[in-house]
Amino acid sequence: MKTEKTITGDVDPDVLAYTVGDDPVLDMDLVQWDCLGTAAHVTMLSEMPVPRPVVTPEEAKRVRAALAEVVADRTFVVREQDQDVHMAVETRLTEMLGDLGKKIHTGRSRNDQVAVDVRLHIKDQILGLEAEVADLAAALVAFGRAHDRVPMTGRTHLQPAMPSSVGVWATGHAEMILDQVANLEAAYRLNDLCPLGSAAGYGVPLPLNRQRTSDLLGFARPLHNVFGASMARGEDEAALLSALAQLMAVLSRLAEDMILFSMPEFGYFTLPRAYCTGSSIMPQKYNPDVLELVRSKTAQVLGLATASLSLLHAMPGGYNRDLQDCKGLYMKGLAITRTTLRILAKFVAGMGVDEAKLRAGFIPGVFATDVALRKVAAGTPWREAYHQVRDNLEALSTEDPDAAVAAKTHAGATAGLDYAMYDGRVSALVDDVAKRRAAFTARTSALLNPDAAL
Ligand code: ARG
Repeated sequence: MKTEKTITGDVDPDVLAYTVGDDPVLDMDLVQWDCLGTAAHVTMLSEMPVPRPVVTPEEAKRVRAALAEVVADRTFVVREQDQDVHMAVETRLTEMLGDLGKKIHTGRSRNDQVAVDVRLHIKDQILGLEAEVADLAAALVAFGRAHDRVPMTGRTHLQPAMPSSVGVWATGHAEMILDQVANLEAAYRLNDLCPLGSAAGYGVPLPLNRQRTSDLLGFARPLHNVFGASMARGEDEAALLSALAQLMAVLSRLAEDMILFSMPEFGYFTLPRAYCTGSSIMPQKYNPDVLELVRSKTAQVLGLATASLSLLHAMPGGYNRDLQDCKGLYMKGLAITRTTLRILAKFVAGMGVDEAKLRAGFIPGVFATDVALRKVAAGTPWREAYHQVRDNLEALSTEDPDAAVAAKTHAGATAGLDYAMYDGRVSALVDDVAKRRAAFTARTSALLNPDAAL
């Protein structure tokens, strides 16, 4: 029988291909994180209080220097026979460092190794994503501010309801998006825990300093229980995907509003032509394909979140190979969500308004509630005022939409929007991301700089 040679034994080529799956491609995104995890692990090994050191501090430095070379090496690839990035890096280090390379995996399993890689990758990605959330929210706030008091019919059931404004529409969507940061933060905190040292899920008979590796990598703390640490893989990715799914659902409603209100029948918003696509048969067409794809991509991310939980729910405790398939799911979810945030920010920034069309939407019925409330102001009880208006709908007339917009002065209404608060929320998010990013980068660059004291 023909077999393929791997570090962990000779296997049937079809079995190798099936079990390795997409890892050689997906794991390329983990190379730098795998190297960082190894730098922290080897540094900790060199400090371990054992009679015969596994590696000396000098050797740990040489490993860190070699890891820095691997990270910088654009030609480094994960091959099928490597199985995954972990063994590809170990093989490479052994080529570079000889016997020293063979020592790096002491007291570690690929199970805690991949879990730490994924967590470092996710931390980096959430920081990038939160910055993109801030950009999109800022674009919506800017659009709102630019057209703040421009009257826009408020709708319920899509039917004309009450006077509203472009400012309310735009900042309403911005606020929905900013509020999603709470879910992203929950995913961030759950992710900010270090599984290293749990090994295969049951620890090792070595005095590992798990707090040290967690600190070296900049995690908030280690995951304490070794078995729990092995089960936290997958849960981490699923929590992220659930947060992404909720965020995408919010973005999809924004996209849907933009599609609807830019239809010629409404014509409230104008979409930048360069962001719309044409038709091969109908020369007049400018289609909002981008916005339609936001809807379909949302469906995909919902599917990815469901897939991750489906994958987990019936799996027994401890490591199972099923977990490998979580990797492609969360990576795809992140990629979709991040490109969607970026394209929408660009789209919103390029959108215009057609004031005449917006004002034309103010049919008499839109003022019905305001008329009833004027009766209340004159002393009529609310329900009586309501019936007087409802029984005489034909008496309603189109009023001045600008006056109606100016009349709602309470917090969050047409004349009561707190733009300074929105600016503050956006800049607080930007600052917070920058601060966390700087701390993370300081940790990671020190680990890969052999001359840096750790
Ligand atoms: N590529 C594997 C994964 O993502 C690495 C861990 C393999 N561990 C194992 N026990 N087979 O899960």
